[in-house]
Amino acid sequence: MKHEWSNRLTFILAAVGSAVGLGNIWKFPYITGEYGGGVFIFAYLICICLIGIPIMLTEIALGRRGKQSPVNTILQLSQMSGAHPAWSIVGWSGMAAGCLILSYYSVIAGEVMAYSFRASSGAFVHQSVDGIKGILTNLTSDPEKLLAWHTIFMGLTILSVSRGVKGGIEKTVSFLMPALFVLLILLVIYAMGSGGFTQALDFMFTPDVDKFFYARNDYGEYLMDASGEKVFTWKPMMVAMGHAFFTLSLGMGAIMMYGSYLNRHVSIGQMTLTIVLLDTAVALLAGLAIFPLVFANGLNPAAGPGLIFETLPLAFGSMSAGTFIGTLFFVLLFFAALSSAISLIEPTVAWLIETKGIRRIKATVWTGLSVWFIGLATIFSITGTTVGDIVENIFGDVELKSDILNYNLFQIIDFITASIMLPVGGLLIAVFAGWVMDRDSTEREFSFRSPYLYQVWYVMVRYVSPLLVALVFLNIIGIVNF
Ligand code: TRP
Repeated sequence: MKHEWSNRLTFILAAVGSAVGLGNIWKFPYITGEYGGGVFIFAYLICICLIGIPIMLTEIALGRRGKQSPVNTILQLSQMSGAHPAWSIVGWSGMAAGCLILSYYSVIAGEVMAYSFRASSGAFVHQSVDGIKGILTNLTSDPEKLLAWHTIFMGLTILSVSRGVKGGIEKTVSFLMPALFVLLILLVIYAMGSGGFTQALDFMFTPDVDKFFYARNDYGEYLMDASGEKVFTWKPMMVAMGHAFFTLSLGMGAIMMYGSYLNRHVSIGQMTLTIVLLDTAVALLAGLAIFPLVFANGLNPAAGPGLIFETLPLAFGSMSAGTFIGTLFFVLLFFAALSSAISLIEPTVAWLIETKGIRRIKATVWTGLSVWFIGLATIFSITGTTVGDIVENIFGDVELKSDILNYNLFQIIDFITASIMLPVGGLLIAVFAGWVMDRDSTEREFSFRSPYLYQVWYVMVRYVSPLLVALVFLNIIGIVNF
């Protein structure tokens, strides 16, 4: 008999532990900055409501019905509904996406760990903007340092997962998640007094439609076509949608896996709303903590992935008790990352245990080692020497399609997983639940109090969510355009 969560609170904490991570505090602020602020946040919130919530409901319900790893859950559910076993491809691509995401997630989490030590040694105190930049360059230009931290982080992930999700993680998250919340609120309060708060509010909540829909170059200037018109782009929309999946841990079976350990009598609707609200609150609070400092210090909100490693340390360096708060912040962020990392490999580990009959520890070590190896690609693509504005690295900048898609390997892995694999995975999960499974079994699994709620879910997964995901994709490929 498989284990179940001790109670509904531990499920919430584990799921929030999975959802709240680098995505909320590292990624959300920098992509919001890159894609123009207000409209991006608006698009992201719409995606959360119309796509994220229905798909999270679905993943939890399918997981709880199948009670196995995503691949085997889908296999069983398709057998029960007389569908083709090929549907299990959703589980396969999910395992691949999870490992790919974790490969770079671990490198960034390693940087977070390094920053905990930098913060605690007082390295940020009274630093200038250039001094802070130097600390980051010192780390990211040294493959050995990044490799060491990446190895340590993967080691810790392997350690936690090999002991079973329940053992350590339930206890850890129930302390860490509330602590993270309190700390973020403290940082927001500090940011309110920093002098950049109104600008930040303006940036985050005033829609600037042009910045969202028209392509710009690395310097923030609009690209023009031959006739002098701005160039329209759907990419920010795609990033917003991808991020809705990423931040809620959807589209690859992580939440399905956690749902498989969930007790029958718990209300899936309540669980989902709680998880989504907490996750969104953490992302918005992170923005409110970071952007005021960006503006107060005259920094660029579109600085990219380095945003949190430059602006926050600057603030920590100039506040009283900054060494303490800064250390605490990065340590908590590290724990948030660890609880997410666990959910990224758990589906693969569980699948290996189920189908290959090997022990958990062996399954975890093999999966972890493979992920560690893929992570080397990220390390080599972010380390390098900065020449002018361009970072030269081993792989060079890989040229894709057009000059706004001038990505390095790490960014390509990020784009393919978060913006393509997760939405496609989510789309298939929705179609599977809405069109392939019979109504009776989904209705029984949810046991919503009112039949009206079930009807809303049904319409969402059958039509609204798949159509929205498909629309964004078709626009990208250029088949439809409006
Ligand atoms: N949601 C996590 C974050 O925001 C990352 C994450 C954990 C994830 N598990 C996932 C992303 C599964 C996609 C799929 O940091």
